Amino acid sequence: MKIAVVGTGYVGLVTGTCFAETGNLVTCVDIDVNKVKKLSNGEITIYEPGLEKIFLRNLKEQRLHFTTDLAEGVREAEIIFLALPTPPGEDGSADLKYVLGVAEDLGKILQNYKAIVDKSTVPVGTAEKVHAAIAKHYKGDFDVVSNPEFLREGVAVDDFMKPDRVVIGTNSERARKLMSELYAPFVRQGNPVIFMDERSAELTKYAANSFLATKISFMNEIARLCELLGADVDMVRRGIGSDDRIGKRFLFPGIGYGGSCFPKDVKALVKSASEVKYDFQILNAVMEVNEKQKLHLLPAIRNYFKDNLKGKHFALWGLAFKPNTDDIREAPALYMIEELTKAGATVTAFDPEAMVNAKTLIGDKIIYANSRYGALKNADALIIATEWNEFRTPDFSQISSALKNKAIFDGRNLFDLETMKKLGFHYVSVGRATIN
Ligand SMILES: NC(=O)c1ccc[n+]([C@@H]2O[C@H](COP(=O)([O-])OP(=O)(O)OC[C@H]3O[C@@H](n4cnc5c(N)ncnc54)[C@H](O)[C@@H]3O)[C@@H](O)[C@H]2O)c1
Repeated sequence: MKIAVVGTGYVGLVTGTCFAETGNLVTCVDIDVNKVKKLSNGEITIYEPGLEKIFLRNLKEQRLHFTTDLAEGVREAEIIFLALPTPPGEDGSADLKYVLGVAEDLGKILQNYKAIVDKSTVPVGTAEKVHAAIAKHYKGDFDVVSNPEFLREGVAVDDFMKPDRVVIGTNSERARKLMSELYAPFVRQGNPVIFMDERSAELTKYAANSFLATKISFMNEIARLCELLGADVDMVRRGIGSDDRIGKRFLFPGIGYGGSCFPKDVKALVKSASEVKYDFQILNAVMEVNEKQKLHLLPAIRNYFKDNLKGKHFALWGLAFKPNTDDIREAPALYMIEELTKAGATVTAFDPEAMVNAKTLIGDKIIYANSRYGALKNADALIIATEWNEFRTPDFSQISSALKNKAIFDGRNLFDLETMKKLGFHYVSVGRATIN
């Protein structure tokens, strides 16, 4: 099939590449001239495990093209995916200016039937708005479909190639047939393609992300309680996770959720609810808990340094909001950096993939190290903000000889308490005993 994908970021590039991988002819459209130039020249623009290899293969096979010209990009396509940003507006609602802007442009361009598919995360009712924006200029036949994306950054290719489910919101038989055909190679193992109306599909995405964010905030509150009651959250986690009604995943406490999705999607769902005069109480609490959790280590750090962080220097491992991505949007590390520097401390950070993005966003607010051990030089203590695998089994003798104090503040519970005790570290983690 011939496909166009408008917006070539984390979702658009993975979507376009994976559809090309199953033999479709894909044109990706983006307004970012530099990005399109790089991609056309075979230079990948995001870090996503496994993506580069299939990106290069499909580029070489000429099944994958990039352009800044929307009209050219969609001319031949039967299906047009919108993978555009939906950032939070000032009031917390999803800002639809990119999606509706492109919809209007499409209205001026279309000349024959196309299925226009919302892959962006958009509030209930957006498919109708996209329809109206196109219909303002184009009087021919077309369908608007809601097909929310559930991929996780870090394992996006796997998630896309073998999705747990595909959700498709449409009442059009023609669009349903096209979408079934397109997704058939991805669900050969029998994972369901769930058809529904557009509104339910739109809400499904917000419900999924909000549920997962709730699970995280719930566990973070259990972790806080563990600290106060002298219990160990790792034990509690294992104790409840073995119940398959609860499940083992998403039960790890830490310094809060971040990224480009959970924070904005929870906020947007609360806002959508308030627009129909519904007070979504649980989600308000989820957001409040997460705000506090991002700075959960700070009181322990202040306490250790007798409430005086001025002139202290910290090594920070991890900038990305989670491992295996270079995405730093809403990363807890950034909140930590803000508070530490406000208190007069300085920070040297290391992240295996996210330093370029961090430099672009916060520049010389911090120093950037070339390696995890390089970050430790002259540091008063080590703070861990992201659970990259390479941080899990470090050489502790290098850590203790480089740090001025043998102190680790671990926001991701990477190390075993007994080991830390034996090695003589001051070790603070989340929901577990502090080792002095
Ligand atoms: N990142 C994720 O893990 C993820 C997962 C599921 C769903 N989503 C949703 O998918 C959507 C896209 O997210 P993302 O992370 O890929 O965003 P992104 O910011 O990485 O990418 C968006 C791209 O759209 C381009 N763009 C902006 N305006 C444009 C225009 N008028 N024409 C063409 N291109 C334009 C930008 O240049 C950018 O390359 C959002 O709604 C997000 O909530 C994201």
